[in-house]
Amino acid sequence: MRKIGVALVGCGGIGKIHAASLKTSPYAELKVACDLEASRARAIAEEYGFERYTTNFDEVLKASDVEVVVVAVPPRYHAELSIKALEAGKHVFCEKPMATNLKDAKEMLVKAEKAGVKLGIDYQNRYLPSHSKLKEIVDSGALGELVQVRTRVAYPILESLPSDAPMLGWLFNPDVAGGGVLMDIGTHWTDLARWLAGRDYAGIYALIGHFDPRIPTGVEDTATILARMEGDVQAIIDVSWAVKASMWLIEIYGTKGTAMANLPQGVLVYDEEKQDWVNVEMPPWEEPHAKLLNLFLKSVAEDKEPPVSGEDGYKSLEAVIAAYKSAEKATEIKLPL
Ligand SMILES: NC(=O)c1ccc[n+]([C@@H]2O[C@H](COP(=O)([O-])OP(=O)(O)OC[C@H]3O[C@@H](n4cnc5c(N)ncnc54)[C@H](O)[C@@H]3O)[C@@H](O)[C@H]2O)c1
Repeated sequence: MRKIGVALVGCGGIGKIHAASLKTSPYAELKVACDLEASRARAIAEEYGFERYTTNFDEVLKASDVEVVVVAVPPRYHAELSIKALEAGKHVFCEKPMATNLKDAKEMLVKAEKAGVKLGIDYQNRYLPSHSKLKEIVDSGALGELVQVRTRVAYPILESLPSDAPMLGWLFNPDVAGGGVLMDIGTHWTDLARWLAGRDYAGIYALIGHFDPRIPTGVEDTATILARMEGDVQAIIDVSWAVKASMWLIEIYGTKGTAMANLPQGVLVYDEEKQDWVNVEMPPWEEPHAKLLNLFLKSVAEDKEPPVSGEDGYKSLEAVIAAYKSAEKATEIKLPL
């Protein structure tokens, strides 16, 4: 198996998760940990066994032993760092959302294409066992023709994150985060709905709002998207930070059946004969970030399409940007933008 030298850029909350994934990956050689804050880069390098650490991103770009750069910094800086890495001929695995605007996201696609390198985006929720199982059920045709996809995430952010989480330093600043809950969680779910349905968005209507007085008013904390997908399949995507109970629910309605993933319980399918919901056996648990990052490294080693591509990242971001436009204009926004 070919080993791949990896640099991790951004050694904060998600950086730690990627470092742990890299440590157990059969493909990865942990070369450089990079962060603007030396103490964070050093701590990650020592804990997970990177060969060296730096605060200087140029060292990553120049490093001949680094083939893959994992970009795990706040959203505003994703495009700038990714584009430099792609121009330097590195493959890039970038956190979501891939950029905070479509112009930057497009430039990332163009640079990857031009350099002949791979660009992957961390939409790891596709690899939660219940979501993979749901996809398998949809693709088997057991539900018939798709009618409607509903995804709902209730994520009480201020109750879920530790009060000293570094992320809270930028998450509610739209200049850095690119927006509110739609950018943070919404892009995950626009990706999931599109992936599950296996079709692109054709039109988006959205409502956005602000409900939690503890969250700065410059960002939305709740949003509902009504989407028209290719073939007139309907999608409803609800996301909120301003709620008290966590819930991740996906419902898929087809002409012949219905399936539902309700984390953490698993997947239920409606059995017409029994006229009841039946529990579906789950694949074994695998940490989804580790699974996706490993598949990305495998795609580099074997020169195959990345599991979640830059184009996938672009499409999920495009749906969210369309949602902001729709909410502002109170009208349907047609896609592609
Ligand atoms: N896929 C997921 O489910 C998921 C989960 C959490 C976070 N994220 C994403 O990961 C990214 C990082 O989030 P986080 O929670 O780790 O944030 P964080 O604030 O905990 O960590 C970010 C780190 O990046 C460093 N940094 C900032 N600019 C840098 C630069 N130019 N060069 C080097 N280092 C730099 C900071 O010093 C900090 O250590 C965000 O885009 C976030 O949306 C994704």
